[in-house]
Amino acid sequence: MAASSSIFLVYFLLPLFSTATLHSSSLYRSQLITQQESLPKSATPITFFEVTKPIKLPKTKPCSYLILEHDFGSTYRKPPILANYTPPLNCPSQKFSKIVLEWRSTCKGRQFDRIFGVWVSGVEIFRSCTAEPTKNGIFWTVKKDITRYSSLLMKNQIFAVYLGNIVDSTYTGVYHVEIFVHFYPAEVRLGGFDSVADLIVPISRNMHLNDGLWFEIENSTDVQSKDFKISPNVYRAVLEVYVSFHENEESWYANPPNEYISSNNLTIAGNGAFREVVVSLDEMVVGVVWPFTVIYTGGVNPLFWRPISGIGSFDLPSYDIEITPLLGKILDGNSHKISFRVTDALNVWYVDANLHLWLDGKGMKTEGKLLKYSCSPLSLSVLTNFTGLDGSFITNASRSITLTGMVKSSYGTITTKSSQSLSYSNYMVMGNEGNLQIVDQIIEFNDTVYATTPSSSVHSLESFKKYLFQ
Ligand SMILES: *[C@@H]1O[C@H](CO)[C@@H](O)[C@H](O)[C@H]1NC(C)=O
Ligand SMILES: *[C@@H]1O[C@H](CO)[C@@H](O)[C@H](O)[C@H]1NC(C)=O
Ligand SMILES: *[C@@H]1O[C@H](CO)[C@@H](O)[C@H](O)[C@H]1NC(C)=O
Ligand SMILES: *[C@@H]1O[C@H](CO)[C@@H](O)[C@H](O)[C@H]1NC(C)=O
Ligand SMILES: *[C@@H]1O[C@H](CO)[C@@H](O)[C@H](O)[C@H]1NC(C)=O
Repeated sequence: MAASSSIFLVYFLLPLFSTATLHSSSLYRSQLITQQESLPKSATPITFFEVTKPIKLPKTKPCSYLILEHDFGSTYRKPPILANYTPPLNCPSQKFSKIVLEWRSTCKGRQFDRIFGVWVSGVEIFRSCTAEPTKNGIFWTVKKDITRYSSLLMKNQIFAVYLGNIVDSTYTGVYHVEIFVHFYPAEVRLGGFDSVADLIVPISRNMHLNDGLWFEIENSTDVQSKDFKISPNVYRAVLEVYVSFHENEESWYANPPNEYISSNNLTIAGNGAFREVVVSLDEMVVGVVWPFTVIYTGGVNPLFWRPISGIGSFDLPSYDIEITPLLGKILDGNSHKISFRVTDALNVWYVDANLHLWLDGKGMKTEGKLLKYSCSPLSLSVLTNFTGLDGSFITNASRSITLTGMVKSSYGTITTKSSQSLSYSNYMVMGNEGNLQIVDQIIEFNDTVYATTPSSSVHSLESFKKYLFQ
């Protein structure tokens, strides 16, 4: 059986215009509030939406549950809102082929776009951004396929939502939120290589902190990590990484080189336009994430995102790194460490991960061995050509990582080769005495996984992604 997926995302955007403060959001947003006031008055709430591929649902009737309902008012730097989660015991069927999370929210008044996360006992299942409300109110709903988290959802858990909102006399919007989970009974039996993990280990922060369960990465030397242990009968492991970028990094792809900033005495976010999230296992780089340029609902110009929100803004992508070839290093029953850093980061990146584990069906103790590891150092070049505030910068980067390893389980000895191959090119022009900025960026992010079984059949997962930002 071969599964292959090919994702092609295209993102076109008008050039980023702005004042000499470039994309400094505070000034930009205060101008936009004035524009918001002059919008045509609509008496009924506006429904916001993101254009996405619909979720493929079975024809069965779902069992639906309201998991959490809350008004997010003054929640900034307060503990996440918690709810007791119980599995769908009263549903007539107990075999589900699709599980869908539904976020429903209304808001009225004036408010910023707020990032939020949803965790099930520390495993992040949803990262998103709120829509910016209007005087007469807005409504939006987001549906996400959360079937891959099934093993968690069949047990009692603590459900947590962190949405840091601030309400005052100017920013009056309170987000009224309801979260449902819909369980669709299966039409046919499931199983095989593409089945979902049996166990998911959170690589996130403590639930009892006064904010999100994500790690906050504030600069290029900041390393955040978490220790974990796995059971001795794991035969497959995938690390799912969630990332989002904020404040100085909200439009990292438009940050100019520091040389340009210092020679013009500017005080804007810099460090150039390239970022990579580097994921390590016990100090060994196992994968990187060159993220999709999600523009939040308040980004560039909020009027662009009303009511159609930017790609990924209501459901930020997560990134899978197949680490099965490395199981030999972590099946020893000892504690190991996963850590994250972000190349050239400024304040702030929110990063965490989930370790999806597949357990041997016969409970056999598995064994693994890393056969080959290759990780090219990051190749990064920046060409600058400017005089005063005008000029252009070309930033190019590439990287490849390949892991090959074998795992012996009751399914036989399976050899897995997992590769990441990435390229990046960013062409940035500053014109009009720094009042015009054009960014033209392409990221190619290819992941492939080939697993060879004893009978020499090959299972493959391939993802070829191309992110264009213009
Ligand atoms: C980077 O961030 C970490 C974590 O906040 C902090 O401890 C460290 O001092 C920072 N380093 C620099 C060079 O700013
Ligand atoms: C930047 O500041 C320095 C020191 O104050 C000054 O000598 C220089 O002329 C300034 N450059 C520009 C482009 O404003
Ligand atoms: C730098 O930019 C100037 C003005 O656009 C152009 O004339 C010149 O050829 C560029 N130099 C290089 C090395 O690209
Ligand atoms: C950067 O990459 C682009 C796209 O691949 C290429 O056309 C260009 O020649 C590269 N420039 C440099 C300076 O490496
Ligand atoms: C990604 O895959 C596509 C399709 O096979 C290929 O054309 C492209 O060169 C690959 N890019 C990288 C960076 O590996």
